[in-house]
This record gives sequence, C-alpha cells and structure tokens, in this order.
Amino acid sequence: MMDLDELVAAVGASAKYRGIDAALVRRIGQEELAKRRTLKEAIKATKDRLHQVGGAFLAQTMPYDHWLAELQEAAVAGDLRPACRAIMAHHASMRERLPFLDDFYAAIFADLPPIASVLDLACGLHPLALPWLPLAPAARYHACDIYAEMMAFIGAFLPLTGVQGRATTGDVTQAIPPEPVDLAFLLKAIPCLEQLDRDAGRRLLTATPARWLVVSFPSQSLGGRRKGMPTFYEAHFDDLIAGQDWAIRRIAFPTELVFVIDTGRHR
Ligand SMILES: C[S@@+](CC[C@H](N)C(=O)[O-])C[C@H]1O[C@@H](n2cnc3c(N)ncnc32)[C@H](O)[C@@H]1O
Repeated sequence: MMDLDELVAAVGASAKYRGIDAALVRRIGQEELAKRRTLKEAIKATKDRLHQVGGAFLAQTMPYDHWLAELQEAAVAGDLRPACRAIMAHHASMRERLPFLDDFYAAIFADLPPIASVLDLACGLHPLALPWLPLAPAARYHACDIYAEMMAFIGAFLPLTGVQGRATTGDVTQAIPPEPVDLAFLLKAIPCLEQLDRDAGRRLLTATPARWLVVSFPSQSLGGRRKGMPTFYEAHFDDLIAGQDWAIRRIAFPTELVFVIDTGRHR
C-alpha cells in the first residue's frame, strides 16, 4: 500500500500526468507493481501506459486559462470557430480531422433526426467542435475524459456554445454516465480503452444508454503510417457488434473510419 501511494504521488508530480483520474492511476499502478521488480520500474511502466492511452495525443503545453480567455472573446465577437479550430490543433486526434471538419459532421448527421442530448465519451478536445455540430437548440452535452484540468476547461467552454453542458472527469472503462441520451460519441477511443480493459469496447457499445452511437477508429497511427489499420479495425468492429440487431452506416474519412449505429433503444 505504501508503494502504491508513493507511485501515485510520483506519477502525479509530473506535469504531464497531473490531474489524471486518481482511481485510474491507482488501478494501473497496482497492476504494474504486481508485474515489475522495483517501484521505479512500476512508476515508469504506469507513466508509459498513461502516455499510450492519453498523453501521446496532447501537445507539450495546454494553456487552458489562456484558451478560455480567447474563446470568451470570440463568443462576444460572435464567431467561435476560428478560436476553436486553433485550439483543437493541440490534440492529435482532433488535429487529424481539421481538414475535413465540415464534411465530417454533415455526413454523420445526414440521416439523423434532431439530436437534443449528447454524451461524448473519452472526449479529448472534441467538444470544441460543437460550433460545427447541427444539434437541436439548447441541447444537453455531457463530455467525459480522464484529465481534470481539461474537463474544467471544457466545462467552462460548453455554455459559450449555447448547449446545457457538463464535463466530468472519470474512467469510462469503470463507469458509464447513466443518463439516457439521443447520441453518444465514442470517437477513436476503443483502441485506447481496450488497452486498459479488454472488454471495454464491447461493454461501451452495449451498455451506453444512447439511441445512436457514433463510433470511430483511426485509419493511421499517430505517426501517419497506415499499416493495414482500417482493415484490422473494421474486422475488430465486426467482431464487437456480432449478434446485435443494429442498423449501421459506415463512413470512411481520410484518417478515420466512422460507424453510425442506430441501436433502436428508446430515446
Ligand atoms: C485518441 S483520443 C480520442 C479523443 C476524442 N474522442 C477524439 O476523437 O478527438 C483518446 C482519448 O481517450 C481518453 N481516455 C483514455 N482512457 C480513458 C478512460 N479510461 N476513460 C475516459 N477517457 C479516456 C484520452 O484522454 C483521450 O482523450
């Protein structure tokens, strides 16, 4: 127990891992302490895993206070989009979509009725794309990720867009926000979450209380290599949805393969 406390303190002392959901750090730390010979090795292994599931996507600095001030100014000026675009470039996952942002949401929402409530699981900076989302007026938007500072920033940003917003810090492999929504995003998250829990993808698809699920997989690695990833993830997705009576639309974008699922669940 002492080792675990020491490990959690050591991980939290580095700026990159500060404010990550404490239960997640403890869980990974415990697994690594059981596997590694020394505390030092366990600390390094814990940091490596946290890097893989989240840290690798972040820019070196994330000046949230400065960004919020810019967004507040942009809201007063009446156009959030340029500021959102500039900030989204600081998260690798969002940066990849910037070249086709308009087409991305136009295609995803093409066949959907008005969406009045959204859950954005493992959201990263994706909520900053809200000005591009054709949601119903005053829609509810709940965003969730493991970074407390990022979620405080997103929580302060959401009201600027006119949604009724909420941002929470949490590990979605342990608990899925329970309130039913029209649509849940699970964008490029399943490969990360399955590194923490092999069954996370299947569980999130079956247990997220949403009528529509918008799920995506990267079609290239962070370094830009394709390495057969689209084929690999498509086969994995087929496996995850096996046996489900869902209507599914597949949309291929240059860096991302998207599935829009109508689960038929009650709204
Ligand atoms: C590849 S990024 C995708 C971000 C966003 N959904 C998008 O598509 O732009 C993966 C995200 O999952 C988050 N994440 C990793 N493990 C998580 C967990 N256990 N619970 C919630 N979020 C998690 C990371 O912090 C990161 O923001």
